[in-house]
Amino acid sequence: MDKSKKIVITYGTFDLFHIGHLNLLEKMKNLGDYLIVGVSTDEFNAQKSKKTIINFEDRLRIVQGLKCVDLVIPETCWEQKQVDIKKYNVSVFGMGNDWEGHFDNLNQFCKVVYLPRTEGISSTKIKQSLNILDKTHVEKLKNALDTISSIVERFD
Ligand code: CTP
Repeated sequence: MDKSKKIVITYGTFDLFHIGHLNLLEKMKNLGDYLIVGVSTDEFNAQKSKKTIINFEDRLRIVQGLKCVDLVIPETCWEQKQVDIKKYNVSVFGMGNDWEGHFDNLNQFCKVVYLPRTEGISSTKIKQSLNILDKTHVEKLKNALDTISSIVERFD
């Protein structure tokens, strides 16, 4: 790694990649010269009780393909962050402000920042919207409508 470069690092799952992810990564890149992104593996997500729609290999490739990202690495455990900070000579560690305060202990190794999240979007919200469109859910709504129609018909 070029010692003259200011290295920034961040981590995340990046499931169903969306505009909030891109905004965050672009803002992170603007804090330095070289952006490293740790993408949570499926095994690590399982430890966090998080199940993704998109598998690790594809999530990694999507993040790797972004102009603002210089290097992607797998994120496999909580303890990894301080190891990476030393290994890659990181100057800034950053996350969205839903993590505010969680990683303040890394202050002893580098600068820690929490950036504002993009309002109104998250992987969880997208999954909830997909659930509404789910076949069995739609089937249930259809059955309920049929029941209501047959009740209304009785009063005709
Ligand atoms: N992020 C953001 N703005 C959003 C969503 C996410 O800035 N609207 C940031 C998070 O704060 C984090 C990074 O993107 O630093 C990766 O977040 P991740 O947990 O993968 O994305 P979410 O969409 O928040 O996913 P989930 O709903 O599963 O928590």
